[in-house]
Amino acid sequence: MSLRQAPIGVFDSGIGGLSVLQALQAALPLEHFVYLDDSLHAPYGERGDAFVVQRSRAITTYLRQTHGIKALVIACNTATMAAVARLRAEHPDLPIVGVEPGLKPAAAASQTHRVGVIGTRGTVTSAKFEALHRSLHDQATFAVQPCDGLADAISRSVASGDDSKTIALCAHYISAMGRFGINPGEIDTLVLGCTHYVFAQDHLAKLVGPQVQILSTGEPVARRTQHLLEQAATLNTTGPGRVELVTTGDPATLQAAARRWLGFATGDAVQWVERGQCAPPDHLSPAP
Ligand code: DGL
Repeated sequence: MSLRQAPIGVFDSGIGGLSVLQALQAALPLEHFVYLDDSLHAPYGERGDAFVVQRSRAITTYLRQTHGIKALVIACNTATMAAVARLRAEHPDLPIVGVEPGLKPAAAASQTHRVGVIGTRGTVTSAKFEALHRSLHDQATFAVQPCDGLADAISRSVASGDDSKTIALCAHYISAMGRFGINPGEIDTLVLGCTHYVFAQDHLAKLVGPQVQILSTGEPVARRTQHLLEQAATLNTTGPGRVELVTTGDPATLQAAARRWLGFATGDAVQWVERGQCAPPDHLSPAP
């Protein structure tokens, strides 16, 4: 098989990265994607860097060895902040794209120069986030809010069908950030600094009001991935485009999330991975 036909690996702590996968599929419909949902080890955002780095290294090794990926998309802000530099150093031959909160586009777009940022505690307390924040301090004021429990609530709502905890947490964190609106002194731009939060965007939009713009990073990540594949001459130009979903957790939850948010159905070109075949944690041993 030529490298053009090889899959692109995409991973997240859970189902949040499906929001990035959606953008990748729209931009690169002929590509083959392998999506790894590490929900057995989620949430990453409250686990600390060492744990997230260890998981990210193990997953990258698994995706290379088992699926022969030609590129990797880290569809998780927390894992990007903690591990992207290490992964790039350990895999210099593998194009790697990370996601980070879109502070720069938000600062450029904001008319009131007040931007809200929501993310996991791991993301918003990371050195990489701090450096990004500092580099933009003269362009906008950022209200930064760690949202403990929100990614987990979004994941659980898939299985239960009950969004009430997600809605309550969104309301709590949004009200803690200050006034939203387009008048001077109000926050007119909200950055979703966690890929899970895209799936709570409707609830967030109701809370901040219709005039506030909400920014996420799926599309820029897809464009960057396309660019790196073009540079490496490994774009798949013949297809067929397809997706394999792999989980370390519960396959039914991942299937339900893909059905609910990506409109997938059993019978689509998706290989559902049974629990026994999912990359179990002991197969995901860290790279030496
Ligand atoms: N989806 C992830 C992110 O973008 C993390 C969620 C979590 O596991 O805490 O940061």
